[in-house]
Amino acid sequence: MNYFLLKHLHVTCVVISISLFVLRGSLELLRRPWRHWLVLRVVPHVIDTLLLGTALWMAWRIGQYPFVHGWLTAKVLALLAYIVFGMRALGKSTPQAQRLPFFLGALVSVGYIVGVALTHSPSWGLL
Ligand code: HEM
Repeated sequence: MNYFLLKHLHVTCVVISISLFVLRGSLELLRRPWRHWLVLRVVPHVIDTLLLGTALWMAWRIGQYPFVHGWLTAKVLALLAYIVFGMRALGKSTPQAQRLPFFLGALVSVGYIVGVALTHSPSWGLL
């Protein structure tokens, strides 16, 4: 696949993934039963699989890899933080009072990832 299309697909998945997370997190904070909608249970998994698949495909295409190149290592570690915070923010057993801090932690993590992606630098080029 053309690299430009691959990157476009990756960024499209990023936008959909973050939007669906914000939607589910907000509904959860408002105590709305979002799990009743099949689309909100299934689509995020499909999009996140595509997001990771395009990420690894592009890394292979440009010959840069996590745990070899700093900016991709930072993306993968921050992605793990995003997943853990996100799971806690949406988890059925998470106390309601802890949801907002986990939700905000997930948003900070994913915001950091976007900054790293745009600058190709773990410090956003600030150091
Ligand atoms: C939630 C997770 C992720 C987000 C929010 C994200 C975000 C982005 C964004 C916004 C871009 C476009 C940057 C630009 O316009 O130049 C991008 C590109 C890219 N991302 Fe991700 N990404 C994520 C996960 C990953 C992971 C885990 C990897 C590592 C395997 C990865 C590898 C790449 C690569 C190789 C590019 C292309 C860089 C280039 O051609 O300049 N991404 N990512």
